[in-house]
Amino acid sequence: MTYEGLSESYIKLLLKAKEAMERAYVPYSHFQVGAALLDEEGHIHFGCNVENAAYGPTNCAERTALFRAVADGKRPGQFQAIAVIGDTEGPIAPCGICRQVLVELCMPDMPVIMGNLKGQWSISTVSDILPGAFTPASLDNRERKTNE
Ligand code: THU
Repeated sequence: MTYEGLSESYIKLLLKAKEAMERAYVPYSHFQVGAALLDEEGHIHFGCNVENAAYGPTNCAERTALFRAVADGKRPGQFQAIAVIGDTEGPIAPCGICRQVLVELCMPDMPVIMGNLKGQWSISTVSDILPGAFTPASLDNRERKTNE
């Protein structure tokens, strides 16, 4: 694993995501994913995918990290970066539901670092990975609309 060209701090975050990946509970897909979410105090919140026999309740690694951080007292916007890793051909791509949750809980310009086990990586931002997102601001007109 090299992650050549990626900053040292983001390489460290990807390696934390890899640690989390090894804790995945994946008896159905056998596809492990790990995430490491860095908060504004420098603490890391780990996430792995946790599957379920009913399939639907499965939670992705990214959402596990984000929900866990909220449960531990973090509020929206109090995050610096998230790294996600899986055993994919190129860098892993977060699913659409996780992109929506990232938009809700992270600043639009927050870096999203995506990697794989071969040392490949890509970096983007929360807003760039979900263009045209439905956001908390999208709800602003709701009273006026419902009274029409
Ligand atoms: N998965 C994640 O945890 N994150 C992603 O970004 C993509 C998909 C999980 C969900 C499921 O447990 C397995 O990977 C196969 O889809």
